[in-house]
Formats: sequence, structure tokens, C-alpha cells
Amino acid sequence: MRFNIALLPGDGVGPEVAAEGVKVLKAVGKRLGHEFSFLDGDIGGIAIDKSGVALTRGTMAMCKRCDAVLLGAVGGPKWDDPAANVRPEDGLLGLRKGLKLFANLRPVKVHPSLLDSTTLKPEAIRGVDLMVVRELTGGIYFGRPKKRWQTATGRKAVDSMLYSEMEIERIVRVGFELARTRRKKLVSVDKANVLESSRLWRQIVVEMSANYPDIELQHMLIDACAMRLIQRPADFDVLVTGNMFGDIITDEASMLAGSMGMLPSASLAGVPKTGERIFGMYEPIHGSAPRRAGQNIANPIAQIMSVAMMLRYSLGLVEGADAVEEAVSYALEQGYRTYDIMEEGKNKVGTREMGDIVAKRVS
Ligand code: IPM
Ligand code: MG
Repeated sequence: MRFNIALLPGDGVGPEVAAEGVKVLKAVGKRLGHEFSFLDGDIGGIAIDKSGVALTRGTMAMCKRCDAVLLGAVGGPKWDDPAANVRPEDGLLGLRKGLKLFANLRPVKVHPSLLDSTTLKPEAIRGVDLMVVRELTGGIYFGRPKKRWQTATGRKAVDSMLYSEMEIERIVRVGFELARTRRKKLVSVDKANVLESSRLWRQIVVEMSANYPDIELQHMLIDACAMRLIQRPADFDVLVTGNMFGDIITDEASMLAGSMGMLPSASLAGVPKTGERIFGMYEPIHGSAPRRAGQNIANPIAQIMSVAMMLRYSLGLVEGADAVEEAVSYALEQGYRTYDIMEEGKNKVGTREMGDIVAKRVS
């Protein structure tokens, strides 16, 4: 088969890790006899520099014509002025909203050969295999009013954590459905002791749970969840939560896996079901790491594992997804490490070398 992939490398280390994603995808094509065409577009800071906006209409239209989007990272100090009226992040948020990618899947797995390379005790993280389902196109990221203004007594600013029943329902369904394909445990994370939007969230989760008697459901407040994630992370299976809570706990959860450089993500426009292809965007959860850019040192595994998610959810090439995941495990087992997961006695490699090793194993 032939697939069209929108390629948006973005800023900082984005282009470097995206190139390794492409390399691995091509290796999958070779192995399985598929053809991938890449359509390049600008996103984030580079788009601001070229055209004054973080996401052009052309890029958006191009993404809509493709089977999936592969994105590197956006942002950097050059565009970080809080007074600026365009920001690289606007491009990412615009894509998520414009492509209706409401379901963000962020799997966190501790690779056995990295047990000793994290800042946590190996016995605390052994067996961690969880999935955070983050709502991605609503909540405080998009709610109105959202503004800054001047008053007689000083400046004020407001953001609104707004959720509709429809938005909550469709993301919670993703949580329940994914739990069904895994260990059948779902934790719904909210702040229902304080926030009105969280109380609605919890109510809807309870109502929906009647349709999922096979799933063990637990509600957890976001603060307690942040604590549990460090204390007993292996207890979690699927977590479902709103946009900002999901943003925060996935950075936290990435430390269980050793590095931000290990965690992939999928942003989907529908509920993932086996055998169905859903449009999606795939990106590492890490940022553009401007201080690491241009040195061939960034860890490409998050991007490469995002390619595996793309194969699985958007392209229906499960065999390819499995092959990529196996190849990453192989590279780690063979002792290859980028700087962020480096330990004594291991083989330190750069971005391109790690990509080469994985691609070679795939093909
Ligand atoms: C993420 C990032 C983004 C977010 C930023 C870059 C806007 O932190 O994908 O987790 O907050 O969603
Ligand atoms: Mg984040």
C-alpha cells in the first residue's frame, strides 16, 4: 500500500529526531512492501520566521490530505517573549484543534534494561506499564474567556476550564475502551473536590461506567494521583483525564521510563478500535530541547516509538508497529544509549546512530 505522511519537523531537536522517525518508517516500508510519501510542512517557530504565523493554512490543508501527521517538536527561546502575540505552541494547539485530535494517548512503559538508569528505585518502577489518555482539544487550554487586561488596581488575566458533556463523554469512552484491551483498570483523574468542571467530569464517568461493568473504575484527585504515580506506579493501567492535568502528569510519568526522550504520543480523532484506522498526529512528548539542538545527541526513541503508534492506529500496520517496538528493545538490550539514558559500561551513541541501529533491525 501507499501512504501519505505529513512531516512537520518543527524546531530545536525536532528535525533531528523526525529524520530518525522517517528512517525507521522507510525501513518498515522496505520490510513489509509499503510505500510512504512524505509531505513537508513548517510548524512552530520556523513557521513564524518564514510566514509570521505558527501554522499556515497551507500546512493545515496538507495535513488533512494525509493519512497521518508526524511531528518533531516546537518552541525555543527565540520565540519565548511572554509579550509576543504569536507563539510556536499556537501552531501545535491549532493543529490539535483543527484536526479534531481530541484523544491523546501517552503510554509509559519501563524497559527492563533501563530499570537502573532512572532517578527512582528499580523496585518501585519494575513492571510499570500504563497509558495516560489525555483530553486534548478542550479544558483550560481552549476555554473562553482567555485574556489579559489592565484594571485600575493592576493587571488581571483569566483562563477558563470549560468542558461540555460531549467532550467529556468521548474522551472517557477512549479510556474505558482502551482499558478493555489491557488489564481492565481505569483511573479517572480530576479535582472534583474543588472544580465544577471536574464534578461534571466525575458524574459523567459514573454514568458511563454502567456500560462497562467489566472495568474496575477508580476516581482519583489529581494531587493524590501525582503522589501515587511516584509511590506505586505499577498499580496503574489506564488513566483518563483533562487537558492540563494530563499535560502535567505525563511529564511526571516520563521519569518512570527514565527520560522524556523515551515517551511517544498519539493524538487521535476517534476512539481506537482494533482493525480500524483513525487519523492521528504522532509526536514525542518532549519539547524542542534547544540546548541539545544541532549536536546529534537527542534521543530519537520517543519519535521512533511515535512512528510505531502511527503504524498501529492510523495505518493499520500492526506488524510494522510490533517490529519497530521490538527493534527499540533490541537496541536497548544491546546496550546502546543516548546521553539522557547513559549509564556506565554502556555504548553511548548519537541521534543518527540510534536511528540507524533501530532501522537496520527493522529491515
Ligand atoms: C505537550 C506540550 C504542549 C502542551 C505544549 C508544547 C503546548 O507540553 O504536548 O505536553 O502543553 O500540550
Ligand atoms: Mg507537556
